Amino acid sequence: MPTVSLSLGERSYQVHVSNGALDSVGFMAEKLRIKGKAAIITDSNVSALYAERVIQSLRESEFEYSLHVFEAGEQSKNLQTLETLANEMVAEGHDRSSFVVALGGGVVGDLAGFLASVYYRGIPFIQVPTTVMAQVDSSVGGKTAVDIAAGKNLLGAFHQPKLVVVDPTTLLTLPPRVLSEGMAEMVKHAILRKPRMLQQLSRLADELQLGFTLTTIEHLPEIIAENIEIKARIVEEDEKETRGVRAFLNLGHTLGHGIEASVPLGELLHGEVVSLGLRGALHLSKKYSGLKERDEEEILKLLRALNLPLSLPAGVDIDKALSHTAADKKFSGGNIRFVLLSDLGSPLISEDITRNDLREAMELLTTPY
Ligand code: NAD
Ligand code: GLY
Repeated sequence: MPTVSLSLGERSYQVHVSNGALDSVGFMAEKLRIKGKAAIITDSNVSALYAERVIQSLRESEFEYSLHVFEAGEQSKNLQTLETLANEMVAEGHDRSSFVVALGGGVVGDLAGFLASVYYRGIPFIQVPTTVMAQVDSSVGGKTAVDIAAGKNLLGAFHQPKLVVVDPTTLLTLPPRVLSEGMAEMVKHAILRKPRMLQQLSRLADELQLGFTLTTIEHLPEIIAENIEIKARIVEEDEKETRGVRAFLNLGHTLGHGIEASVPLGELLHGEVVSLGLRGALHLSKKYSGLKERDEEEILKLLRALNLPLSLPAGVDIDKALSHTAADKKFSGGNIRFVLLSDLGSPLISEDITRNDLREAMELLTTPY
């Protein structure tokens, strides 16, 4: 089974990736000597599909457990749901000896991970991601958060999981739009550190159009593990995003966050705004840091082949989107810390991007590609 290790001192852990891994969550937790009662936290869609298998695997390893389900969607990633879940856990007798199993997409992982970080001042948790976004990105690296009225992910904590169990076969039940949006983060990882993966993703895009075959499914663990490896190495270099390296993961996110914040919560999916943000970032990279036009073209074609948006949907107010970009947490001391590329595989942080540049990039997104 492909395994990716994160070497973070006493917070080190492994990401196991294999088809069918959902049935081994209990066994893997037992092997790690994780003790106590499990609080399985999941959403209303994932619960119906996969909770029973995780419960069965925990039972086989003689773990006590309780199941906690909240309404699926970004709208639930808030303090109200956090409190409801915490109260439910207390009612089920969970204390500081318990652990959390986050079963679901990035919303479940961020919310359950944050709850684990504050419940009884912090308990261990296991990530069992079931979307592409969560498998290659949000379950790895320890960023957890909820949204508040002032913005997305503004209340959170670094809390590394003890274990991540990735079962790529869970992706087969994803709605096509959710499958595609997660691929935006896979493309971002490949652009940042492993451009040769772009060809592999391009083949995957073709297979996505035709429907996944058995051969694709057999190869998914390898591709996913290779992609996770990119993020894992970046997190190892800069766990708390203090050295600049982890900030490279924000490629496409500055404009993306502005767009995401300017539309009703959940209207555009996270990976969709990343795709839009990538188009803008590639344009500015071509203009200021020497990215070649043919490389920009290759990425844009790939994003399009993955059914990701490259133009703003009608009704997005670009002034509003820009004002949310200006309020984005990536502005520091008046300067935007904007991720550009000098080449595929060579990101850099620029502090020279002006508000006018952002407007130019945002206006580009109103034109078709
Ligand atoms: P999500 O968790 O809302 O999942 C998308 C939809 O797919 C939901 O309706 C969910 O119920 C459903 N779903 C999940 N797994 C399924 C499956 N296997 N089969 C069928 N349906 C399934 O969204 P997401 O795209 O996974 O994650 C987005 C969230 O992740 C955002 O809140 C974003 O801020 C966060 N995020 C966090 C990080 C991080 O580093 N912590 C990184 C990237 C994104
Ligand atoms: N998703 C960005 C990060 O984990 O840093």
